[in-house]
Amino acid sequence: MDFDKLVQRRQSVRGYTPQLVEKEKIEACLEAARLAPSACNAQPWHFVVVTDAALKNAIADATASRTLNMNHFTKQAPVHIVMVRESKNFNSSVGSVLKEKNYAMYDIGIAAAHLCLQAADLGLGTCILGWFNEKKVRELIGVPRGKRIDLIITLGYPTTNEVRPKVRKTTEEIVSYNSYK
Ligand SMILES: Cc1cc2nc3c(=O)[nH]c(=O)nc-3n(C[C@H](O)[C@H](O)[C@H](O)COP(=O)(O)O)c2cc1C
Repeated sequence: MDFDKLVQRRQSVRGYTPQLVEKEKIEACLEAARLAPSACNAQPWHFVVVTDAALKNAIADATASRTLNMNHFTKQAPVHIVMVRESKNFNSSVGSVLKEKNYAMYDIGIAAAHLCLQAADLGLGTCILGWFNEKKVRELIGVPRGKRIDLIITLGYPTTNEVRPKVRKTTEEIVSYNSYK
């Protein structure tokens, strides 16, 4: 797909069919994430691919909140990809301290974008989740206590191929040339 069309097509999918995702397609998404850039090429990520239905449903439960009416759709997705933040390498760690920026979090975000765009190109739907019970997910998949789980990505076939109009700020609101306005 042309890149501009792909960017339009990628959207947060919150309705999935029960169809399982082919292993090659999951692997293609992971490969796109693996090739993402990262500060000092630290690649501070580990992807736990959850396909076991019972485990995936338990993770889905840990993403949902009744009070806030959040993430009730997640159980429908046959695959959950849990993005664990790994240690940065020496240069990225030093840079993060000196520049007061946690580069690993930026890196995880870029890898997530790669993964979601590849999924969209394969006709799959994704939704990036930042809201979940991290402690519960950590326990479910055996992530050691010191490590953070930054994001979970739901993956599956969307119930509709309709692309919603994007709700975004205008270019004028977010772009200026040569000085900050
Ligand atoms: C870091 C991050 C965390 C997000 N967390 C959630 C979430 O927990 N639940 C959810 O339904 N959507 C979540 N989203 C999806 C956003 O709501 C969505 O990307 C945004 O509204 C734009 O819509 P679009 O993805 O359909 O273009 C998250 C997106 C990002 C980038």
